[in-house]
Amino acid sequence: MPGAIYAEGLVKTFGDVRALDGVDLDVPEATVLGLLGPNGAGKTTAVRVLTTLLRPDSGRAVVAGIDVLKHPNEVRRSIGLSGQFAAVDEYLTGRENLQMVGQLYQMSSKAAKARAAELLERFHLADAADRTAKTYSGGMRRRLDLAAALVVRPPVMFMDEPTTGLDPRNRQQLWDVIQELVAGGTTLLLTTQYLEEADHLAHDICVVDHGKVIARGTSDQLKAQTGGERVEVVVHERDHMAEARTVLAGFGKGETTVEEHTRKLTVPVTGGAKLLAEVIRELDGRGIEIDDIGLRRPTLDDVFISLTGHAAQPADAAAGDAPPTGAEPADAKGRKGQARKEAVK
Ligand SMILES: Nc1ncnc2c1ncn2[C@@H]1O[C@H](COP(=O)(O)OP(=O)(O)OP(=O)(O)O)[C@@H](O)[C@H]1O
Ligand SMILES: [Mg+2]
Repeated sequence: MPGAIYAEGLVKTFGDVRALDGVDLDVPEATVLGLLGPNGAGKTTAVRVLTTLLRPDSGRAVVAGIDVLKHPNEVRRSIGLSGQFAAVDEYLTGRENLQMVGQLYQMSSKAAKARAAELLERFHLADAADRTAKTYSGGMRRRLDLAAALVVRPPVMFMDEPTTGLDPRNRQQLWDVIQELVAGGTTLLLTTQYLEEADHLAHDICVVDHGKVIARGTSDQLKAQTGGERVEVVVHERDHMAEARTVLAGFGKGETTVEEHTRKLTVPVTGGAKLLAEVIRELDGRGIEIDDIGLRRPTLDDVFISLTGHAAQPADAAAGDAPPTGAEPADAKGRKGQARKEAVK
């Protein structure tokens, strides 16, 4: 029995570009699939095909049990979509935007009003509800757009980069909303460029690159494939490197790598922050002075390097966008050039 979102062999070309190059997906009911990939990977194209906005060149898709190509109108009635760029009417207030959606879906005016009020509250827009959306900040528009996608409580939802452009607090709030939705039985496909987000929300993750799914699995499986967590230590004195190496070996789950010239030692670990604290105590107890220590978790960059042997290649100008603040706190420092050589195939 196929899941709530099912796709088989989706291909979509734009001239020479194979935006989708044979994508298969299967998302069980009431779960979240994270479609993870860099700019130009094909994420939006996949969402557009699955939400009936774009016809694939070939392949098949079934959403909420309905064939997307044969019955697009029925599919549209069963899904909610929040696109990559918020689609709100600038000249209506937040409240009017939501009521309008309800009316488009033939809700009674009373029901549409009640639902709008509920969602404005839920998305922390109640105070701004009666201002035109023109006056909203980017994050407020994004939240209004997501609220609009939820007016009719669709069984299947698509969110294309829902948290891009949100500050950490708003991102966290949205994550909470998403988790509630899914607990209530909604099936969700979301796209993201951030492993951390997929990690937090998705039951299963598909990593896409150049229109192909290059890896799939749970976040733990992908990270394990990538080498998982590691502790990195920069010791203050070269003379302490050998002893530090012995200490790390005692905690490590694999071989310790040593970079002589930077006095940096790296070892794969499991156990997170608790283990990091133990490592610090042990080094301290032996009088080994350290310049820097950190728990590094694999980033999307690491996953890509590990899977493809190259860094995620941005395909367009948007690639210059910085990741949202705080997206990968454990790795905020020196992401670039941190590519672990041993991971490259
Ligand atoms: N309408 C179109 N006409 C021509 N090329 C297109 C069109 N839509 C997408 N493409 C190309 O298809 C590829 C996949 O684009 P898509 O928008 O699906 O990527 P994405 O993964 O959503 O990227 P981003 O993270 O930047 O949103 C890109 O090379 C893009 O330039
Ligand atoms: Mg996109």
